[in-house]
Amino acid sequence: MSATFTPVTTQLAAYIESLFSAEDAFLQSLLRQAEAAGMPPIHISGAQGAILQVMLRAIGARRVLEIGSLGGYSAIIMARALPPEGKVVCFEINPTYCAFIQRQAEQAGLSNVIEVRCGNALNLLDTLPEEPLFDAVFIDADKPNYVHYLERCYPRVRQGGLIIADNTLAWGHIAEPEPTFEPANVRALQEYNRRVATHPGLCAALIPAGDGMTVAVKL
Ligand code: DHB
Ligand code: MG
Repeated sequence: MSATFTPVTTQLAAYIESLFSAEDAFLQSLLRQAEAAGMPPIHISGAQGAILQVMLRAIGARRVLEIGSLGGYSAIIMARALPPEGKVVCFEINPTYCAFIQRQAEQAGLSNVIEVRCGNALNLLDTLPEEPLFDAVFIDADKPNYVHYLERCYPRVRQGGLIIADNTLAWGHIAEPEPTFEPANVRALQEYNRRVATHPGLCAALIPAGDGMTVAVKL
C-alpha cells in the first residue's frame, strides 16, 4: 500500500488537459466571446469538464441542476453527457449572462436540453417544485451560500444522485486555519467541505482537479 500523493504540477495539469478535456473548438469560441463580453475567466477547466461528464454518464443522469452558470461553459459540457431528452437547469443571477448562455445553447444545438432561469438561486430553489428530483447538482456560485445550496438541494436529489461543488480547494487556501486571502470565501468553502464530509446522508470525496471539486453521492 502507498500513501504517496502526487501534487499536480503545471506540467501534469497540461498533460491531463491534453488527453482528458471536454473542451472543443465550440467551447474555445464560447470562451473568446465570454472574454469579449467582459465575463471573468473563472470557468472550470476542460479536465474538470471531462470528470463531470464521466460522473454524469456513470449514474445515467438525465436531469441536472447547475447553480451559477456564468457563460454556460460547464452547462454545455454537462448537457453533452445527457441523453437527448435530458435537462440542465441553469440558475444564473446575471441577466446579461443568462442571455449569453441562451444564445450559446442555441448555437450548440442544445436549446432543448439547457433551460436558463435568471434570478437569485436561493429564491429559485425555494420556488422549485419538489418533484421531479435531480440526478445531479453542480454548485459553482457565490461561496458564502454553498452550505445553503447544499441544504436546499439535498432533498431535491435522488438517492444515488450527486452533489458536486467547484472551488473546494479555495484557490489553494482551503487548509489554512486562519486564511488571509479572501477569508470569507475560504472559510465558507471550509465549512462546505466539513458539512459534506460529515453529512450522514452523503458519501463524499474531494477531487483535486482545477481548483478542487467536492463530489458527494446521496445515500
Ligand atoms: C473564482 C473561480 C471560480 O471557479 C469561481 O467559481 C468563482 C471565483 C475566482 O478565481 O475568483
Ligand atoms: Mg468555480
